[in-house]
Amino acid sequence: MTTKAKLHKEMKNKLDLPEYYGNNLDALWDMLTGYVEMPLKIIIINFNVCKKALGDYAEDLLFVFEQVEKELDDFILIVKNELKDDKTRSQDFCDIFYTDRIDTNSVKWDNLKETFGNEDLIPMWVADMDFESPEAVRIALKERINHNVYGYSIVPESYYKAFINWEEIHHSYKIKKEWIRLASGVVPAIYWFINAFTRPNDSIIILLPVYYPFQNAIKNTNRNLVTCELINDNGYYKIDFDEFERSIVENKVKMFIQSSPHNPVGRVWSMEEQDKILKICKDNGVLVISDEIHQDIILNGHKHIPAATVKDGYYADNIITITSASKTFNLAALNTANMIIESPEIRQEYDDYIKTISTSSVNLMGIIATQAAYNYGEEWLSDLLLVLEDNYKLVKESFNEFLPKIVVSPLEGTYLVWIDLREYVDRENIKEFIEDKCGIGVDYGEWFSPLYKGFIRLNIATRTTLVRYAVQNIIDNINK
Ligand SMILES: Cc1ncc(COP(=O)(O)O)c(C=O)c1O
Repeated sequence: MTTKAKLHKEMKNKLDLPEYYGNNLDALWDMLTGYVEMPLKIIIINFNVCKKALGDYAEDLLFVFEQVEKELDDFILIVKNELKDDKTRSQDFCDIFYTDRIDTNSVKWDNLKETFGNEDLIPMWVADMDFESPEAVRIALKERINHNVYGYSIVPESYYKAFINWEEIHHSYKIKKEWIRLASGVVPAIYWFINAFTRPNDSIIILLPVYYPFQNAIKNTNRNLVTCELINDNGYYKIDFDEFERSIVENKVKMFIQSSPHNPVGRVWSMEEQDKILKICKDNGVLVISDEIHQDIILNGHKHIPAATVKDGYYADNIITITSASKTFNLAALNTANMIIESPEIRQEYDDYIKTISTSSVNLMGIIATQAAYNYGEEWLSDLLLVLEDNYKLVKESFNEFLPKIVVSPLEGTYLVWIDLREYVDRENIKEFIEDKCGIGVDYGEWFSPLYKGFIRLNIATRTTLVRYAVQNIIDNINK
């Protein structure tokens, strides 16, 4: 008997249901449970919704659910029943989910010595978070681990459903299952696309400063790196469309790799900006690889627009989108990314290419974790975003007050704050200042573009106290 059937039976035995509900147990079930995912056997009840629908009767029902949970060991009940203000939610999130990562083979925490030669720095570099993933991820993985067989696996329909739902609900992007391909990460996928759709010495363009593995991918595959610098308008970054087009034409560029939202400058590209840049690419036969890994970390009232949805999908046939739940839910080491290829011709070419490199693209645990996160992680994510907004506000306001010539770029998306320290710190001594004086580990501006010596990228996806520590150390050491 399935869990659902067992639960129905138990509920019927225990609950003196009013006739209406008794006859419509399925409808009642669907109304009360946010989601019911049978393989995971998790039932999430939003008690506030329940109470609105059922009044006092909701409490009886909850009691029965709890009794049934005790007797059925194969389902888990999660009741969400508190309404809290944003400040409390943000603080609670840090208290509940912040976790010590030392000695967990974490690149960010356990690789400081290799990278900076000093293991005592507070790490605010690598783009992952110091927060536990949503509880549903642990539950789903644990359930799979209990089975303790890790043979070859398929990607279940429920995985595609979870991803497709997420994209439609959160980004108004309606994706068909046949457009989706899987990869072990966004960066490997970028390498595959470079190899599949360009030849050695072909030109590929990127907007600088940008996530440095883009440059590595282009150089390591022996393609010609073409760069177009963003315009730095007092910390707010804009695209130089004329220069972009000129560089494309002059270098006969074949491919554009973009970061949307943009790491490290924190921009969430507007509809107008995307329309312009996608038009230039389409007009000049440049294939667009849109890396949208940061799509869900959108702050301060901004809205992410997937490139493939711009102008109702007008450019979609010229775009390959890559995304992942890894940044959103802190799952990077579970190595799972989604690629969306709408054009049947490009998809065919990609499928032909992938046959030549025999790659196993599915990570059993990554699939399970991603599915659970997309199905049940929404509330966790909305609390995370409150923490990130608070942390950003702390950085911005503290520097504004005490060191007003530090330029903190507006953070529209990502949890990576781009900071220009040049007015106070000699750019040649930036490393010594940040590491030896302030005791923090960051990504340096010049890692992203040679023009950005004297800038740092600060990862604020950690508890607020650590962000305060970093900011205070910078202020104190500049004021010394
Ligand atoms: C823009 C961007 N793309 C890709 C990645 C990494 O993706 P993956 O770990 O899936 O290769 C990052 C990580 O920081 C990133 O910022």
